[in-house]
Amino acid sequence: MKGIFISFEGIDGSGKSTQISLLAKYFAKQKKSFVRTEEPGGTEGAHEIRKILLRENNFQWSVESEALLFMAARNDHVEKVIKPGIEDNKIVICDRFMDSTIVYQGMRSPRAKKLSLLLFDLIGISPDITFLIDMDPEIALDRALNRANDEDRFENYGINFQRQLRQNFLDIANKHSDRIKIVDGNRSPQQVAAQIIKSVETLVK
Ligand SMILES: Nc1ncnc2c1ncn2[C@@H]1O[C@H](COP(=O)(O)OP(=O)(O)OP(=O)(O)O)[C@@H](O)[C@H]1O
Ligand SMILES: [Mg+2]
Repeated sequence: MKGIFISFEGIDGSGKSTQISLLAKYFAKQKKSFVRTEEPGGTEGAHEIRKILLRENNFQWSVESEALLFMAARNDHVEKVIKPGIEDNKIVICDRFMDSTIVYQGMRSPRAKKLSLLLFDLIGISPDITFLIDMDPEIALDRALNRANDEDRFENYGINFQRQLRQNFLDIANKHSDRIKIVDGNRSPQQVAAQIIKSVETLVK
């Protein structure tokens, strides 16, 4: 018996946090022990890096440096939370993981993508299943901007950027169709959750 590692991906406002809450509720009801975590963050050190990366005055990191900071945060998170959770036979649910780095940094720099992939190879942990919540970027952006937040986030970059992000996520999903399940997020939270739970049930059995 070994734990399970589940990640959620998708553009800003696509419903990742909402779906993770519904899945966590489901696991709690089933009396399955799970760990809910997020990136960038998940540990104290990683959260500090998140603050540096997402605040308004972000020191104007190059995309490559940004990717390396994300990878440092990820390594800390994997060492302290994700690996121990899996080794403890838990279900680890992570809000964003490596695919987000490939999309958000990789999209802007092939070198950042290469650097991240090289490091990820050494960090050495891949989700058992990834849910990509795919949806109309205009609706997602509306949803995301409706939330007050003091972080300088990618949703502030506008609709064309969101469209590109969506396409990049879809490209990765098609490339890794064995791991990544594309879920249509243009439905009610309950409808989306029902599909996710169905996929997870076969894994958890
Ligand atoms: N299926 C849905 N239908 C309508 N509204 C939704 C749906 N899912 C989530 N929402 C609402 O849309 C907003 C964004 O959802 P949520 O925070 O879950 O997205 P997210 O993917 O976690 O965003 P971010 O990447 O910015 O963290 C929230 O206000 C949420 O209540
Ligand atoms: Mg969220």
